Amino acid sequence: MAYSNSIPVKNQTISGELILVGFSYLGELQILLFLVLLVIYVITLLGNLLVILLIKLNASLHSPMYFFLVNLSFLEIFFTSSMAPQLLVHLLVEEKTISLAGCAAQMYVSTIMGLTECCLLAAMAYDRYVAICQPLHYTTIMSGRACAQLAGASWFFGISVEVAQITWIFSLPFCGSPRIHHFICEIPPVLKMACADTSKNEIMVLTVTVVFIMGPFVLIILSYVLIISTVLKVPSAEGRRKAFSTCSSHFMVVTLFYGLALITYLGVKSSSSPESNQMISLMNIIVSPMLNPIIYTLRNKEVKGALRKTVGNTLFPQNW
Ligand SMILES: *[C@@H]1O[C@H](CO)[C@@H](O)[C@H](O)[C@H]1NC(C)=O
Repeated sequence: MAYSNSIPVKNQTISGELILVGFSYLGELQILLFLVLLVIYVITLLGNLLVILLIKLNASLHSPMYFFLVNLSFLEIFFTSSMAPQLLVHLLVEEKTISLAGCAAQMYVSTIMGLTECCLLAAMAYDRYVAICQPLHYTTIMSGRACAQLAGASWFFGISVEVAQITWIFSLPFCGSPRIHHFICEIPPVLKMACADTSKNEIMVLTVTVVFIMGPFVLIILSYVLIISTVLKVPSAEGRRKAFSTCSSHFMVVTLFYGLALITYLGVKSSSSPESNQMISLMNIIVSPMLNPIIYTLRNKEVKGALRKTVGNTLFPQNW
């Protein structure tokens, strides 16, 4: 709206390329950032592939929790891959351009994965709730079919909501400066380029955030309140420790995911410079997907056992 008054709309319509200003201000240091991010990206891909492979190869890990974990790792691979390669290339080249179509594609993939991840984390919390609070009915409630339906519903929400949201945003006319002060295409800066009334889009963004990002978070908190109150009634300290340990990996992943998202949100709200905003989102986008497989493989006895077994089988087949 602000644009339509001051800029002759017709002359300045953006139809071709956008410029992601990103980390240009770092100058030569971009090469250093490139190397660091390259290492992180490779670790993320290998770590998540390792988790998928270990779970697929080990029959002892064919339980609902690990079914969801495979789905989560699969998601993380797509999430980072929708952004990291473009960011890495942009750190090396002068011309940091992206086509409008490329920008749309990136936003489709990253937002679908983000929303699906929130729903999937809630499904995993529900799985832990049933395991601890309804142990006798666990196998009936969390049947293979129920797990597939919960994961399927997460994907359904992620895809349908975000396809609608992003398609709507990209049906707006864009004009004004094609320079985006960010290293990837994200909803807020892209909405700022629109030279139409975006208030309805902003309402949709807010609604989606409340229903599909904060909604699952409330369900996760509720599950953990019920889990903790059940576990505290267990008489023996050993029993309590065991029950908590089956939830600790999920708890850490959720804390990390929502913790970083909250820090990003608060950081972006309180900071005035695009430079520090970018550093904060970088943490959220690049670092978080790397840590999940590390948490699950290093913190989890069952996965560590499976890792030892698989590596042992490959290296010393005759011993096993
Ligand atoms: C994730 O869950 C969906 C829905 O149940 C399923 O179709 C898909 O195969 C799963 N993906 C992986 C990699 O397991």
